[in-house]
Amino acid sequence: MEKVKIGLLGMGTVGSGVWKILKTNRDEIIRNCGYEIEVSKILVKDLGKQRDVDAPDELYTDDFEDILSDDGIDIVVEVMGGIEPAREYILKSMDAGKHVVSANKALIADHGKEIFKKSKSKGVMFLYEASVAGGIPVLSSIRESLAGNRVEEVMGIVNGTTNYILTKMAKEGVDFESVLKEAQDKGYAELDPTADVEGYDAAHKLTILGILSFGTDIELSSVYREGITNIQPIDIEYAKELGYAIKLLAIGKDRGGDIEMRVHPTFIPLEHPLASVGDVFNAVFLKGNAVGDLMFYGRGAGDMPTGSAVVGDIIDIVKNRNNIYYISNSRDEKLVKPMEETVCKYYIRIMVKDKPGVLGKIASKFGKNNVSLSSVIQKGRKTPTVSLVFITHNSREGNIQEAMEDILSIEEVVEIANLIRVENGVDE
Ligand code: NAP
Ligand code: HSE
Repeated sequence: MEKVKIGLLGMGTVGSGVWKILKTNRDEIIRNCGYEIEVSKILVKDLGKQRDVDAPDELYTDDFEDILSDDGIDIVVEVMGGIEPAREYILKSMDAGKHVVSANKALIADHGKEIFKKSKSKGVMFLYEASVAGGIPVLSSIRESLAGNRVEEVMGIVNGTTNYILTKMAKEGVDFESVLKEAQDKGYAELDPTADVEGYDAAHKLTILGILSFGTDIELSSVYREGITNIQPIDIEYAKELGYAIKLLAIGKDRGGDIEMRVHPTFIPLEHPLASVGDVFNAVFLKGNAVGDLMFYGRGAGDMPTGSAVVGDIIDIVKNRNNIYYISNSRDEKLVKPMEETVCKYYIRIMVKDKPGVLGKIASKFGKNNVSLSSVIQKGRKTPTVSLVFITHNSREGNIQEAMEDILSIEEVVEIANLIRVENGVDE
């Protein structure tokens, strides 16, 4: 198996996610790009620190020169954060002909122009999917799948900390300071929350979104920025009463020549898809002149979601570098299950004659067919027939169908009025 060697700058939250994904998903990665991706050196600040990843000690270094001078390293992955020395290391890596992946929104928002210019002049790739909305693949979608559009509008909840705070304030009617304190105690918010609550983090991300969406240079300093520290529970109450949610939105609009770029708390109609994006989740709503409205939703931070975006960029570089357009080898043989083997929950509405004992008879037929019930509701009374509604626990489709046949044989059962499969959004 041919290998591509990478140098990891940083082994904190994101670096450890990258390490874990490369290890856990090794087979999928080989299948997707045809190469094994191997971390051959890891730069950290403190070589003595205890780490919760199983990378061998000999990979670690605190000297960037070890990575820069290693000709075997093709791709440098900057997940250390901060402006310097991250900027210097990225530029030097490019000078040495290495491709670079970065998650560093502050650096790209402030120094992107210089880095993009260097990558162009050196003929190396620079990808930074993780810098905006963590695990959500929004930048590659704008760059590739939406390349045939003029993006007219991009509007996002791109900061998880502030979305968590606003969601909690709205649900519990509590004030900003107490939610922030609780979020800090739980480790959701930084001890110095300024970058998040004052909108700096969102402004960095909007700058990057704007550059890609509107195809122009955008200075971070030209983005209007206002945080959420002034939002009071009463504002949220009024918003609700008027049919709105309050969200910290990063908004970019192409007004046909002029561009609007602003981050601020925003009233957004409750029926707008962004209004229901809660807790730490991120979402980006985008309008293209060909595709229309689109929305991307997911986790904007954390080791694995952010690592997912970084590893995706690494694979993208491996494929582009080697002109790999399609990998066809060694896909697993997987068969589609017959429908009767499907397992899910069911909503079943049965019309019955309202006679004593009918519920017991139906329940026993479910039991006989190994279908466990989670709830039962009876609708209607004093009519000759009434609805009995059952929600099952996870059950096998084949058992459900057999139970239906058995239930239809009960004298008081008039009909199975409806059977609807229930998806809770996650496999249980
Ligand atoms: P982190 O947990 O603080 O980790 C930073 C890592 O970089 C640590 O391993 C640290 O070494 C190393 N490092 C820092 N400065 C260094 C220096 N001067 N020389 C050598 N090594 C240095 O940071 P993170 O949360 O992973 O974030 C990394 C980047 O990803 C940032 O740009 C951040 O904005 C971006 N990002 C993070 C998330 C997230 O969920 N955390 C999401 C999206 C984007 P030690 O371990 O020895 O201290
Ligand atoms: N502080 C950021 C947030 C983390 O709260 O969304 C990822 O950029």
